[in-house]
Amino acid sequence: MVEKFGELLSYTIDENTVSVNYEKSTAYIKIITKDIINFFVPKISKERKSKAIEYLDNNICNFTVEKRTGVIDIITEALIIKVYDEFMIDIYTIENELICSDHRGKRSPFIRRSGDYTLLEDEGHEYAKEEEFKVFVKKTMNEDTLFYGLGERTGSLNKRGYHYKNWNTDNPAPHGETFEALYKSIPFLIALEKGNAYGIFFDNHFETHFDMGKENSNYYYFSAVDGNIDYYFINGPQINKVVERYTYLTGRTPLPALWTLGYAQSRWSYGNEERLIEIADSFREKDIPCDILYLDIDYMDRYKVFTWNNNRFSNPEEIMKKLREKGFKVVTIVDPGVKKEKGYSIYDEGLKKGYFATDKDGVVYVNKVWPGDAVYPDFMNSAVRNWWGNNQKIMLDSGVSGIWNDMNEPASFNGPLPDDVMFNDDGVPMAHKEAHNIYGHMMAKATYEGLKKATGKRPFIVTRACYSGTQKYSTIWTGDNQSTWEHLRMSLPMLMNLGLSGLAYCGTDVGGFGFDCTGELLSRWVQVGTFTPFFRNHSSLATRDQEPWAFDRETEEINRKYIKLRYKFIPYLYDAYRKCELDGTPIFKPLLYNYQYDKNTYEINDEFLFGDNILVAPVVEAGARKRLVYLPQGDNWIDYWTKDEFTGGQYIIKDAPLDTCPIYIKSGSIIPIMEEMNYIGEKENNVLHLEIYGSNNGVEHMAYTHYCDDGESFNYRNGEYNEYRIEVSMEEEMKVKLNLIHDGYNRKYESYDYMIF
Ligand code: GLC
Repeated sequence: MVEKFGELLSYTIDENTVSVNYEKSTAYIKIITKDIINFFVPKISKERKSKAIEYLDNNICNFTVEKRTGVIDIITEALIIKVYDEFMIDIYTIENELICSDHRGKRSPFIRRSGDYTLLEDEGHEYAKEEEFKVFVKKTMNEDTLFYGLGERTGSLNKRGYHYKNWNTDNPAPHGETFEALYKSIPFLIALEKGNAYGIFFDNHFETHFDMGKENSNYYYFSAVDGNIDYYFINGPQINKVVERYTYLTGRTPLPALWTLGYAQSRWSYGNEERLIEIADSFREKDIPCDILYLDIDYMDRYKVFTWNNNRFSNPEEIMKKLREKGFKVVTIVDPGVKKEKGYSIYDEGLKKGYFATDKDGVVYVNKVWPGDAVYPDFMNSAVRNWWGNNQKIMLDSGVSGIWNDMNEPASFNGPLPDDVMFNDDGVPMAHKEAHNIYGHMMAKATYEGLKKATGKRPFIVTRACYSGTQKYSTIWTGDNQSTWEHLRMSLPMLMNLGLSGLAYCGTDVGGFGFDCTGELLSRWVQVGTFTPFFRNHSSLATRDQEPWAFDRETEEINRKYIKLRYKFIPYLYDAYRKCELDGTPIFKPLLYNYQYDKNTYEINDEFLFGDNILVAPVVEAGARKRLVYLPQGDNWIDYWTKDEFTGGQYIIKDAPLDTCPIYIKSGSIIPIMEEMNYIGEKENNVLHLEIYGSNNGVEHMAYTHYCDDGESFNYRNGEYNEYRIEVSMEEEMKVKLNLIHDGYNRKYESYDYMIF
């Protein structure tokens, strides 16, 4: 039951926290920065024990507090927070314009009628009843409010009118718009109202709900079945500031190892060494670049994690070595479920040390996953994370370069884990009800720390389940999609919202996981994959072959063309990652991110920006050979294929035969490119190649900052990197200048060249 606060009585200040005393309770308002305010009411724990926010500086902020009858004003350099009776909050800009206000009044759910027109609301149909929640916060929304974020979601880019649940779920049925929950829980919402954005981060990892006006178009709410009121208001008004501030709290995607940006080929499963080598050789023979091959569950001995099936892979070290010589890295899947089998060292050791989750009586809890009866490592416990982290060495020693964490919702084939399965949060018991949504997050953290410790290099991890903040540890993919046009279309808003939710390093199974792909669908999908941060073709057991050459000559050619295009853009992509680590800017983003003042961008589901300079309008309809493209206002756009230039703020119809994905480069862009190679690092990049777009249109000055480092270590954090400032001026004649503005890495370009369009 949601608690009442009663009348506002008094307040005290302790450093950055204002404690507000009510008749029935005390609430804490913490000024994190002038633009980020935390609202906290302890219900289950006195302390704020965030799993998402781990490395926050406790800077002292300037703010003042004034109390009048029935209201307290907290004034920062950017915001006025008005706090009323019943813990009602209104937030204003420093210029006194209302940004966000709590909704007063009762809930008033939409009406449902049965066949005979009687109302169904009393049967608890669909809408979640307030009694089910211990935390319930309701905020006003206006006619024009739009919503974004919330991580991995089906449905459209704008989340207005949807209701979603955060409860990490492995549901193998084809994901559709009716799905309220998927694999990830990212309780972070961005509201856009009258062109101004703000964010709400609800840091509660019990089952939470977000309702964006589905229940009633006068308000939106977020709620939790248990836990504390613990949410952050994040000021904008620019959407990029909201994302920057959210990732300031929860962390940013660290610069990835360069090799991870190449193309990856996967399937369930390349089940033996012959097939794996055959795949690798085919890429080289067919002149299709590829850096990474994935091994799915069948490389293991009866799905026992950290083992190899030596009938299938007689000598893993040898195979990995052979593949490395051909320029391939191998990533292996590692699931959390540990096979319950006496004599299996991981199980025996974990059992002896008490490393597995138990039932409420302390007996090790058993469910079923791929290996049959299996137990669940308790990743809440730092000793277990260390142990799991150290086990990564087993994979590294066999020559593996990255780890793919799957089934970590956690999935269970024998019914859901009961709420009271117990974990140990470093001495504090934590029930599954609370641990569920962070299980994947803590597993990714364990894996990241283990890989980092063992190699000293940037770890590469892919995870399916996650929570806010997982971006610090892992890249993510969107789980088991299907080879359908519907799912190709759906992936675009899903990835855009993932990017807005801090998970910049994201992608889908290119070509689709379940069901059989077609040549046309793969051709269109690879055109999107080229621009997704995580670029991997993957498909399920017993579906038809889905490699680039598995369909027909045309499909193979299109795959070759676009995978090569991906490699061409890698220096530009790496620059985008650098920016992402510095300020949280997503890589695959909705047009509104850069064109917030252009309302036409607000609900574009099927175009996206790749970095700041490239707009992609892929074809996502079967049979379509033309499409409508919106080019946002304020910039001119150059068709990548024809080099025709268009002014922004208009819709155009673009011819898009199967081998053409409409791509537009912002006029005035300088794009660093990579020369053709089979895999990253095959050739040395001694010459910086640039493409310059927009010389015809009176752009007088262009500038771009290009970043380089060793592509694998953390030395860049000690200044071992170079940064080049490229400036192009177009007075009487064109001048291109290159300045080394940060000189910290000993490998430098020997020269540079450019092409002008
Ligand atoms: C899960 C994963 C999928 C993988 C399969 C077998 O369904 O989402 O990618 O291939 O398990 O490991």
